Amino acid sequence: MSDPILSIRGLRKTYGTGVDALRSVDLDIQRGEIFALLGPNGAGKTTLINIVCGIVTPSAGEVLVDGRNWQSEFRHAREQIGLVPQELTTEAFESVWNTVSFSRGLFGRPRNEAYIEDILKRLSLWDKRKSEMRFLSGGMKRRAMIAKALSHEPAILFLDEPTAGVDVELRRDMWDLVRKLRADGTTIILTTHYIEEAEEMADRVGVISKGALIAVDEKRDLMAKMGRKTLDIVLAEPLGAVPAELSEWKVELENDGHLLRYQFDSHAERTGIASLMRRLTDLGIAYKDLSTHQSSLEEIFVELVHGGAQ
Ligand SMILES: Nc1ncnc2c1ncn2[C@@H]1O[C@H](COP(=O)(O)OP(=O)(O)OP(=O)(O)O)[C@@H](O)[C@H]1O
Ligand SMILES: [Mg+2]
Repeated sequence: MSDPILSIRGLRKTYGTGVDALRSVDLDIQRGEIFALLGPNGAGKTTLINIVCGIVTPSAGEVLVDGRNWQSEFRHAREQIGLVPQELTTEAFESVWNTVSFSRGLFGRPRNEAYIEDILKRLSLWDKRKSEMRFLSGGMKRRAMIAKALSHEPAILFLDEPTAGVDVELRRDMWDLVRKLRADGTTIILTTHYIEEAEEMADRVGVISKGALIAVDEKRDLMAKMGRKTLDIVLAEPLGAVPAELSEWKVELENDGHLLRYQFDSHAERTGIASLMRRLTDLGIAYKDLSTHQSSLEEIFVELVHGGAQ
């Protein structure tokens, strides 16, 4: 494997308010990957991104961008990075075209109208190039901010909640765009609350909770861990204990014996549901209702945190 494009070592942040937003985060990002940072509100995602982008000062730790320290060689780091912040702030009266091309100028890049035209077209903003930013819808504004972040041709693109408040159709377009950028060699780090988004986009996923990176894994492996489901069987008559005949299934009795709960792996070839139901029938155990339930992100976090899974 080649050297990581981004290396984060021992990053900590305690805000002035005393909040420990990051507790010693280590993370390597490989060239050309799409990395999704998944975590609940307040987990520290934006703090991490803002430190790497030089907006927030860390309490400890360092970041190497392409092997070079991001503080002592700030200019180098800044040139490599494009950021679409979570909170969009724009010059309301400026046109889309100017917003994007001025930004390129700020990075000292020579004018390149063909390049700006290309990114605006790819973001379906070409028709809107003359519109003032304030006349754009939220989704268009977000795309304009992506164009702005790409204006200086960065090697690494940070997208902080790129699809928050974006409709389903546009979200798909955004995902396509991100994949295209990756195909051109851009490394992409995005944050999201949506498992679906991580599942759709990412090569690797990092789960962050309370300022700690509690799991970093290939998407496939993490989703397999997350793919656990439960089947709730509401019994017609309560049971005093799990019958010995059911010992080959991972079942538990809940609700004073009224509910039989079976945990299964939804990604497995055989879930064991059909055989469990047959066995119940054979044993003369009747049921009134069945429901399945997918572990939520919150439950997965709890399991990862308390189970110590890595
Ligand atoms: N400027 C600040 N001053 C003080 N505390 C802050 C500041 N910014 C963030 N925090 C706190 O740091 C913690 C992490 O916040 P952060 O914004 O990094 O979370 P996040 O994972 O991006 O959340 P969200 O999903 O809501 O965007 C939170 O407890 C937050 O209240
Ligand atoms: Mg955030």
